[in-house]
Amino acid sequence: MIPRGCSSALRNIAPTLGRPVRVPLRSFSTTQPASSDLDTAAFGEQHIAKGIGRLTKHVFDEGKGTFITTDKGVKLLDLTAGIGVVNLGHCHPKVSAAAAAQCSKITHAQVNIGFSSAQIALIKELIPILPHPSLDTIFFWNSGAEAVEAAVKLARAATKKPNIIVMQGSYHGRTNATASMTRSKTIYGEGHGPLMSGVFATAFPYYSQFGGASPDTPTDELVEQALLQLKLTLQQQTSPSDTAAIILEPVLGEGGYVPAPPEFLHDLRKICDENNILLIADEVQCGMGRTGHMWFMEESGVRPDILVFAKGIANGFPLSGIASSKELMDRQKPGSMGGTYAGNAVACAAATATIQAFREEQILDNVAARSKQIFSFLNDLKSSNTKAGNLIEDIRGKGLMVGVQLSNPELERDSSAQSQPQLAPKIVQECVKRNMLLLSTSVFDVLRFIPPLTISEEELSQACSIFKESLEAVAKDL
Ligand SMILES: Cc1ncc(COP(=O)(O)O)c(C=O)c1O
Repeated sequence: MIPRGCSSALRNIAPTLGRPVRVPLRSFSTTQPASSDLDTAAFGEQHIAKGIGRLTKHVFDEGKGTFITTDKGVKLLDLTAGIGVVNLGHCHPKVSAAAAAQCSKITHAQVNIGFSSAQIALIKELIPILPHPSLDTIFFWNSGAEAVEAAVKLARAATKKPNIIVMQGSYHGRTNATASMTRSKTIYGEGHGPLMSGVFATAFPYYSQFGGASPDTPTDELVEQALLQLKLTLQQQTSPSDTAAIILEPVLGEGGYVPAPPEFLHDLRKICDENNILLIADEVQCGMGRTGHMWFMEESGVRPDILVFAKGIANGFPLSGIASSKELMDRQKPGSMGGTYAGNAVACAAATATIQAFREEQILDNVAARSKQIFSFLNDLKSSNTKAGNLIEDIRGKGLMVGVQLSNPELERDSSAQSQPQLAPKIVQECVKRNMLLLSTSVFDVLRFIPPLTISEEELSQACSIFKESLEAVAKDL
């Protein structure tokens, strides 16, 4: 008998229960994939999950250095580096060769079964470049979000406390736990709850997060406000005795490309030490040379208890991980960490080659030179007193992690995020029309420049010209 309230769909199949049901088999052909009459992008739209947002409909076929070529032969100047991943440019020859060689040696050296020589070789290269000597023990994962989750697991296991404090505007990933820690946009968690509990958010020293503050607000005032909010969070929302860790992106990424002032990092360290709270630096986007140092935390000299890395570490191969002290890491029970692909051998070989190439090719020198070039171009444009230049409200960042916040001065200024129609998405599309890939970021009107760190002076000048033309095209239509 069908229970009352059962859906009509269930009622329809109910009579077949207990009897064999003939399911028609789809015809299968080795030469005719589904929807083969569609062009490649249309096929992708048809068969790839809609939940993936996409900037363009280009089909990327080849990548070399700062350029991507599409299946239709269009050559695109890539100022996104695959969202801060191919820091050495697409298909860096040394990285690709190391991965190819590893493919013929061993591809899957499973870490819960034995040690992996590719992983050990990487650890030997990685530990010396980490931002603090206390970070001497590593756990590898595949993606940034997984590594953030590993950091949370370690913090909880090591302190035996449940709660995590995150920064307003933070982005830590899209898995269930990291979506709950992400506060840059609601879209990542919206409609997917319940998310992980025990997460509390506090303010980051960024003027757009404080009503009425302008880009000229002195840094010490922003830091003071952010620290006040943190102290209130610890008094009103999660007591220090329940708080395992404070996690931050030392350069707020998806929240607006805002570097944390060194004094803020020092104060966070002090608050953590006074309250037996761990400090986690998520350098997934701002690490691996992006800001001109191998890690942004180096600049302030502040020691993170746990460093999270991913993206640029293997220049396009899926690898991530956390680094911490042996004393902390050893508080986790054997078997509590690991996973089928944790620290894949091919990705590890690519990462070892990536670190070696950084050294051999003096990549950080290029970051310093190109950073000077782009900041000088943007500052000149902003002060040019042209309609386009006047749309630039703030230029910020470090190295080749550069944010440009926009605002139309002809409209009344209001600090709330959606008060003006955004210019950044329009500029991005103008750049795409001119065969350049550029991203916006955050709920505020911000563009981000994250080219490969190997970008040449000539390629960057070309990018600057395309950006200027695109900004002018948008300004003209206002
Ligand atoms: C700071 C930061 N943390 C974590 C992540 C998540 O990394 P993944 O996309 O590899 O899971 C990202 C991705 O953009 C990130 O920028």
